Amino acid sequence: MRMYDIIEKKKNGKELSKDEIKFFIDGFVKGNIADYQMSALLMAICINGMTSEETSELTKAMLESGEKIDLSIVPGIKVDKHSTGGVGDKTTLIVLPIVAVCGIYAPKMSGKGLGYTGGTIDKLESIPGFKASIDKEKFFRLVKQIGLSITNQSGSLVPADKKIYALRDVTATVESIPLIASSIMSKKLALGADCILLDVKSGSGAFMKDFDSSLKLAETMVKLGELSGKETVAVITNMNSPLGSAVGNSLEVIEASETLKGKGPEDLKKLSVYLAANMLYLAGKGSISRCKAMASDAIESGKAFLKFKQMVSEQGGNTEVLDDYDKFAQAKFCKEIVSTNEGYINCLDAEKCGMASVILGAGREKKDAQIDSSAGIVFNKKIGDYVHKGDIIAKIYSSDSEKLYVGEDVLRKAIKITQSEVPTLPLIQARVTKEGTERFI
Ligand code: URA
Repeated sequence: MRMYDIIEKKKNGKELSKDEIKFFIDGFVKGNIADYQMSALLMAICINGMTSEETSELTKAMLESGEKIDLSIVPGIKVDKHSTGGVGDKTTLIVLPIVAVCGIYAPKMSGKGLGYTGGTIDKLESIPGFKASIDKEKFFRLVKQIGLSITNQSGSLVPADKKIYALRDVTATVESIPLIASSIMSKKLALGADCILLDVKSGSGAFMKDFDSSLKLAETMVKLGELSGKETVAVITNMNSPLGSAVGNSLEVIEASETLKGKGPEDLKKLSVYLAANMLYLAGKGSISRCKAMASDAIESGKAFLKFKQMVSEQGGNTEVLDDYDKFAQAKFCKEIVSTNEGYINCLDAEKCGMASVILGAGREKKDAQIDSSAGIVFNKKIGDYVHKGDIIAKIYSSDSEKLYVGEDVLRKAIKITQSEVPTLPLIQARVTKEGTERFI
């Protein structure tokens, strides 16, 4: 078999066989296939797509490229949650403690931020002392004893994805449904939870910019999960504007803590309860409405916040910061973004807000760059709010005064004010299960 022929076949829009897929994944992981050949194939896949059989074989070949975790030493039902990536998405910090309080085991391996989208590990590492890199034995022990743990994605899981993602990131081949679906699902299957909940983000701040492609991605991933014997549900949620009010690492931990204390922004609370309810549903805890009530109770009783604190403490974090936010590292500089005209906030473009937060220091412009845990944006206004000239729309934070000015520039481009109110898409747009798709838009 020759890589050249496989590239040519996909370039001509033909279907690759199981053996051909296995050949290029194994060869690439072993270093027998050069980056330039893999890049050419990725571009051909990006342009011509893959059939569901090819996507399924690609997922299996990637899964087989590394270690698989055996979670059977943890008793009971384990449910994994994954977001396809967004701006201001801190739901994992809220949802996992909720489901753990309700008796479900929630093991989670997470990544660092990618591009303008934030990463759960970066958020947690803004808590002084928090260790995301814990060994497998500690991870298992925490899941078993307290119901949850959030750790770094292990390097030995799906090495094929690690190598392929690094190429996709620099060859404009990230936004491809078969490539995203196989990348995410191979990692989910390697973790070995019993059921999987996927939050597929849709809109300007997501990899999938429109509803139809988000739906296709959601349906592809649900099918891949079900084919592997894992009950899988996907929800499609709005990512045209940031979720909640905070974007940036410690700022998002503060907002997640507020939400766990029963406060926090309405959209964040609503989505967190809905995601938690879907995880509880997958674990067999009853109908979605019953599971929503359980999730809300976990917040209102204060138990979910205590569970979050317990996890932070077990992983070495200083829990005092979760009650006294001034104990977080503080940004040196803060600037108010003041409205220069009057009208309705019609757009807070999520992608541009994400880019502004990266410029402020909350994300990485280069792989392995240091991030500023205190940098970011806190919005005072949401879409649909009426603003007068001089009103504060947002505050931006950074430890570098130069970055504050560039960040402001980019953020201002994200904000659109109009004279009439413009209808916005709903937060929760669809739910995809093996039975079919419920659409809410
Ligand atoms: N997240 C992943 O893990 N992989 C992708 O391809 C896109 C988002």
